Amino acid sequence: MDITAIYPGSFDPATLGHLDIIERASKLFARVVVAISESSNTKRFAFPEEKRLEMLEKIVKPFPNVSVTTFGGLLTSFARSRGSAVLVRGLRAISDFEYEFQMASMNRYLAQEIETVFMMTSPKYHYLSSSIVKEIARLQGDISGLVPPELFEDVRACFPGP
Ligand code: PNS
Repeated sequence: MDITAIYPGSFDPATLGHLDIIERASKLFARVVVAISESSNTKRFAFPEEKRLEMLEKIVKPFPNVSVTTFGGLLTSFARSRGSAVLVRGLRAISDFEYEFQMASMNRYLAQEIETVFMMTSPKYHYLSSSIVKEIARLQGDISGLVPPELFEDVRACFPGP
């Protein structure tokens, strides 16, 4: 089937865990649109929207069927505007489940034709999150096993240290 999947998220910043999902989703679906949530009043991002877009564009280059864009408003409206009926989310641990379950259920309430497909994060990335990357970078720790090499400089520049 010729399916366009949307992989939505904050990507503040993108991690190796996100890249793992992107790579695996690119093999399952005809097209994958990585959809970066725009800045809002409810979430405070370390990286501005343009920077998150620029960083993702760098790391999806090896995947010809993956594109990146930002979106505002409801995810289901964005998915409909792209003619997509599949949302992809990565699941790390049981702790992710409640939040993901609520989000998938709400999206289903809003748009019954749209399915959320969960992919288990590869075991080596179970501990990884954008928040933990920011914490390590802020404390000047080694981020080399956490984000794609193309993003080292961008992430370090955001947390220049003392
Ligand atoms: O990476 P994140 O922060 O877990 O991604 C969350 C995201 C951006 C997918 C979610 O907040 C979202 O879909 N925001 C758009 C607004 C929306 O549609 N809300 C209703 C669904 S709960």
